[in-house]
Amino acid sequence: MGLRRVSAADRDAFVELAGQSESFFRPWILAPKTADEFDGYLRRFDRVAADGFVICLLSTGAMVGFVNINEIVRGPYLRGVIGYGTFASSAGRGYMTEGLRLLLDYAFTDLDLHRIEADIQPANHRSLNLVKRLQFRKEGYSPNFIKINGRWMDHERWARTAP
Ligand SMILES: CC(C)(COP(=O)(O)OP(=O)(O)OC[C@H]1O[C@@H](n2cnc3c(N)ncnc32)[C@H](O)[C@@H]1OP(=O)(O)O)[C@@H](O)C(=O)NCCC(=O)NCCS
Repeated sequence: MGLRRVSAADRDAFVELAGQSESFFRPWILAPKTADEFDGYLRRFDRVAADGFVICLLSTGAMVGFVNINEIVRGPYLRGVIGYGTFASSAGRGYMTEGLRLLLDYAFTDLDLHRIEADIQPANHRSLNLVKRLQFRKEGYSPNFIKINGRWMDHERWARTAP
């Protein structure tokens, strides 16, 4: 499995795969589904407060998913919040477990972060299973926390600290 920074060169493939995954993503996340949305997504990644990556197969380079680190805060916090998804055609094969493992290594070593958080809706069992496999712990619950498709959704607060 490979992890590399997302770039404008990924636009067409990303938008196509995300379009095919629309019902798979709903109601859990918003992912860019048009070229304009993708460009807006890329602009969020200033590499200081946020950075974005794609997860790829090393054998073919094919994109299987994405992960971004948002709200990076340094100083005494050294923390960030991740968002992620696998494209529907690549789900259920362990790719995200491996991809997020690479992301955690990068965050804890290269970025020198101490803490990675994930906010997950209580009914999103696939995502809960994923973070449990990666030794995140549940730290809390925030009602009406993130607005997704026009609705404020409750989220569990999960986190993992550096080894
Ligand atoms: C959440 C999400 C990323 C999880 O993806 P995933 O494909 O289930 O995760 P993995 O790639 O780690 O695959 C794990 C599954 O593959 C199976 N698997 C098959 N081969 C495997 C292998 N070699 N290694 C590990 N798992 C393997 C596991 O058994 C597991 O299936 P299970 O959950 O039915 O037990 C995905 O469901 C998704 O993108 N959902 C929509 C967007 C979303 O919810 N994002 C997160 C918001 S908080």
